[in-house]
Amino acid sequence: MFRGSITKAIEVRELTKVYSGGVKALRGLSIDVEEGSIHAVLGPNGAGKTTLIRILTTQLSPTSGSAKIFGLDVMKNAAVVRKLIGYVPQEVSLWPDLTGYENLMIYAKIYGIERDRRKSVIEEILELMELREASSRLVKTYSGGMFRRLEIACALMVRPKLMILDEPTIGLDPSARRIVWEKILEYKKEYNTTVFFATHYMDEAEKYANLVSLVVSGNVVETGTPEELKKKAGGDKVFIKIDGNADIIESALSNIDGVRILRVRGDEVEFNVSSALALLPQILSSIQAKGYKIKEIRLREATLDDAFIAMTGKMIAEEEGNIKELISERKMIRRGA
Ligand SMILES: Nc1ncnc2c1ncn2[C@@H]1O[C@H](COP(=O)(O)OP(=O)(O)O)[C@@H](O)[C@H]1O
Ligand SMILES: [Mg+2]
Repeated sequence: MFRGSITKAIEVRELTKVYSGGVKALRGLSIDVEEGSIHAVLGPNGAGKTTLIRILTTQLSPTSGSAKIFGLDVMKNAAVVRKLIGYVPQEVSLWPDLTGYENLMIYAKIYGIERDRRKSVIEEILELMELREASSRLVKTYSGGMFRRLEIACALMVRPKLMILDEPTIGLDPSARRIVWEKILEYKKEYNTTVFFATHYMDEAEKYANLVSLVVSGNVVETGTPEELKKKAGGDKVFIKIDGNADIIESALSNIDGVRILRVRGDEVEFNVSSALALLPQILSSIQAKGYKIKEIRLREATLDDAFIAMTGKMIAEEEGNIKELISERKMIRRGA
């Protein structure tokens, strides 16, 4: 059997965007997103993630380059493309003074869902997003997580083939973030949707994406699975203290494939390993074979942040905002500040 279609969910080539003020938000960015995958673009604020998403969702035209959704050029086939995607913007996209149900009804009309189907479509998505009980309440009384789930619900009523989420959990606390993702994954499982999301939270990319593209200054600098990216960062870090001079075990350790010594001082040795879990037994037995005892061992697994720093020399900001900051951050973007 042939593998069916080789069409990519997203195919972007050499995309550039220069805003009217002269800011170069995208500088020849290329990216491929496989159908059925969960693909993250991870990068610090200002990297160009939202600009990319606005072009993909046909709100903004690129300065040069091409962008295709399921093989369709986003500029030439904007109307068709819009029907294939469910888009959850970084900006606030709800009416706080209306109920959850009323918000969904407005979007159902905007999306052209036929009158006699609207009610059942809304009921179904309320159930899926665990918002049924809250649906008659004004949205301004919602928690940040419920607010975001309702925005996602609005985007999913059309059963998109491709879900595009811009900072899906920005500013939410860890438990709200987890529920938002549970719901996204439940939906994906049921409808086999492709999920493309932008985030500046490395743990979110690491936890939920099959593939992660690191974005810096308008370019993708690297794409890989979280594991591949972490390996490129030099792997996990191990610190060991023994009851003797660490010089003596240095050569034994460095003979192990995948170990890279970082520092040897007195009775301490520090090194990178491709995978601590896989290599630790061998490391321990080689130390014991030399007749030494281990007094202390510390292990830090590599993070995507390490990968990011290794590949770009930059850090991804990781501070968690509260709900007020979230709303003001998201509104600020809407005002175009
Ligand atoms: N409408 C706009 N006009 C001018 N510059 C913009 C506009 N929107 C974004 N930018 C600038 O483009 C760059 C990329 O922004 P953005 O795509 O929002 O990045 P990200 O989503 O990764 O934070 C930033 O320098 C930002 O200030
Ligand atoms: Mg953004």
